[in-house]
Amino acid sequence: MHVLSPTVFSILLRVSLSLADTCADTSSLVPFLRAFSGSENDHFYTTNVSEMKNDALAGGVYVFEGESAFLWPTPEPGTVPMFRLYNQNSSDHFYTMSSDEVPEMMNAGWAYDTAPNHTAGYVYPYSICGAAPIYRLFDPTSVDHFYTMDVVESQNAVQAGYQDQGIAGFAILPSANGTVVQSSAIPYLLPSTITASPESQVSATTSSSCANVANAVPLLRAYSIGGTDHFYTTNLTEMNNSVAVIGYSFEGDATFLWPTQEASTVPLYRLWSFSSSDHFYTIDKNEVSEALAQGFAFDTEAQNVGYVYPYSICGASPIYRLFSSFGSDHFYTMNQAESMSAPGYVLEGIAGYALLPSADGQRQTSASPFLLPLSLEVLPVSITLSPIPAFTTSIAIDTGSPSGLPSTAGVQSTVSRHVVLGVTALVAFWIAS
Ligand SMILES: *[C@@H]1O[C@H](CO)[C@@H](O)[C@H](O)[C@H]1NC(C)=O
Ligand SMILES: *[C@@H]1O[C@H](CO)[C@@H](O)[C@H](O)[C@H]1NC(C)=O
Ligand SMILES: *[C@@H]1O[C@H](CO)[C@@H](O)[C@H](O)[C@H]1NC(C)=O
Ligand SMILES: *[C@@H]1O[C@H](CO)[C@@H](O)[C@H](O)[C@H]1NC(C)=O
Ligand SMILES: *[C@@H]1O[C@H](CO)[C@@H](O)[C@H](O)[C@H]1NC(C)=O
Ligand SMILES: *[C@@H]1O[C@H](CO)[C@@H](O)[C@H](O)[C@H]1NC(C)=O
Repeated sequence: MHVLSPTVFSILLRVSLSLADTCADTSSLVPFLRAFSGSENDHFYTTNVSEMKNDALAGGVYVFEGESAFLWPTPEPGTVPMFRLYNQNSSDHFYTMSSDEVPEMMNAGWAYDTAPNHTAGYVYPYSICGAAPIYRLFDPTSVDHFYTMDVVESQNAVQAGYQDQGIAGFAILPSANGTVVQSSAIPYLLPSTITASPESQVSATTSSSCANVANAVPLLRAYSIGGTDHFYTTNLTEMNNSVAVIGYSFEGDATFLWPTQEASTVPLYRLWSFSSSDHFYTIDKNEVSEALAQGFAFDTEAQNVGYVYPYSICGASPIYRLFSSFGSDHFYTMNQAESMSAPGYVLEGIAGYALLPSADGQRQTSASPFLLPLSLEVLPVSITLSPIPAFTTSIAIDTGSPSGLPSTAGVQSTVSRHVVLGVTALVAFWIAS
């Protein structure tokens, strides 16, 4: 029987602690207020209560629709600006964290709007610190960019004719009843040592900054009950030997990744600990160093099992990383349902991005690319170990008597919020151990 190896515990603790100060301050979160104009076919978002009240709603053209997200009004650690543009001809507000997209949109008729620093607010470019995706949708017929954190609403919008344009950034979820801010996203284990720069915001899967889909090979997965070890390799001979000689059970294709380095990819290092009978895979060189110092070793000459994307680009999907302290086992899967139901395993985050295997064993790219900015200036950060403190604020929006509409005086929204403890997978792991 395997007990929790102190070495693994120490590695995880150190990784998380060393980066814990890179989360934004949750006490300065503000609601990203949302309004819609049916006559102009425009979704409008602002953190400025006065602007919402006196400019958008007072004219009667826009109707208040509540909080779309919680984000930061000024720069915070780990965040990037979400630029705000407006197209007068098509009455469309547009928001992006990609500074490369700004000139493209300007060529197409959008211009900076009246926000300070041309910025609507600050968001995380990655899924970190309990942040969740803001989905971006676009209706080319009415020329409307629409942003929501509600998965169901985004799917309904697609049914209604909006294009799925991926993820606009990561922010903090408001709860359904608007009184609680949730911290619920899967932490992304972003390496502190990325060598590849995100080349493109890449919604296409065939851009020159994408790896060639045709070159991706299956990463084979096997499991040893005796050793409580998940093992992954692209080498069929090695897989055959592990099954025939060492007693692993073959479990199929885990993902498709690249056997040699291609555009935008980074090595997925492979390490092995004899004492805890654990194969460990990571793209983070610092985590590799920690693991080597704690008794792990490279067990192949190549030192890596292949190459993956560090970001969700080019139609790649997340490889979830889990850990069981009971068996001292790292487990990797692209199957979200499996990642949420593996008994005894704690989700540690996303180990990298690669291609989903389809049921019939082919490579597939996903529909919802992550709109990663080209020129990302923020330093890579990782998940926090600190619980997010609870707090309460309240903002009252009195819409007054919008001209052209009956004086309802009833369109009043009180926003108050608390933050629940942002206990990450690592904290859960720490407590469990
Ligand atoms: C908020 O909007 C109002 C316009 O209603 C504007 O006068 C004010 O400068 C804005 N505040 C900030 C901080 O941008
Ligand atoms: C505008 O940019 C300056 C300089 O980066 C920063 O100090 C300030 O907080 C920003 N303000 C807003 C509202 O974005
Ligand atoms: C807006 O529309 C007018 C008339 O159709 C056109 O002349 C003008 O160039 C357009 N402006 C932009 C920025 O697209
Ligand atoms: C709002 O929802 C949260 C959980 O999502 C719950 O704890 C809270 O009591 C609810 N508040 C109201 C006023 O219903
Ligand atoms: C691995 O085993 C399978 C099934 O026994 C066999 O078809 C295949 O040729 C073997 N491959 C290698 C590289 O040994
Ligand atoms: C595949 O594995 C076998 C057996 O472990 C090894 O001899 C061979 O060198 C490996 N091939 C590659 C390309 O690494």
